[in-house]
Amino acid sequence: MKKIEVRKSTDEKRIFKVIRRIFPKAFPRFSANDFYFVAKAGGRDVGFIHLIKKKGRILLQGVGVVENYRERGIGSMLVDKAIDYANQEKMDIMLKVRPTNCPALNLYEKKGFSIKKVRDTYILERKQFT
Ligand SMILES: CC(C)(COP(=O)(O)OP(=O)(O)OC[C@H]1O[C@@H](n2cnc3c(N)ncnc32)[C@H](O)[C@@H]1OP(=O)(O)O)[C@@H](O)C(=O)NCCC(=O)NCCS
Repeated sequence: MKKIEVRKSTDEKRIFKVIRRIFPKAFPRFSANDFYFVAKAGGRDVGFIHLIKKKGRILLQGVGVVENYRERGIGSMLVDKAIDYANQEKMDIMLKVRPTNCPALNLYEKKGFSIKKVRDTYILERKQFT
């Protein structure tokens, strides 16, 4: 198993590239409120998490791991970084996910998120200090 590192990144080209490997049609935004962490395995970028600071909360806008590197704990490491960041900022985390996205739902549930609203997408929330 290659060594995995997850670090905050502001390198827009690099972030764009790894996101496009996972979501080929994505157009990531880079405003002052957007924060990205990138996962690296053996020198290669293999995952990202995108957080947006919005109205006193952290919106978890997206997380993804390159297909060949899934189910090795990288998604979990990325969400842990988001939680650390939210804890530092003393903010709750919100996110939207499709009810059919089983891997993502399992991951978020495991990390202490609870379902707040249900329509055709689920809205999940992770409260501070719960
Ligand atoms: C969701 C995603 C980021 C998970 O990343 P990952 O690196 O494979 O996740 P991990 O290996 O850290 O697994 C953490 C937990 O997620 C859940 N999980 C991961 N893959 C799963 C799968 N194929 N089926 C069911 N649950 C799964 C499990 O609960 C797992 O915990 P466990 O290993 O103790 O069972 C990855 O599947 C992905 O990139 N999917 C495509 C993009 C996407 O849908 N992103 C989320 C919406 S923006």
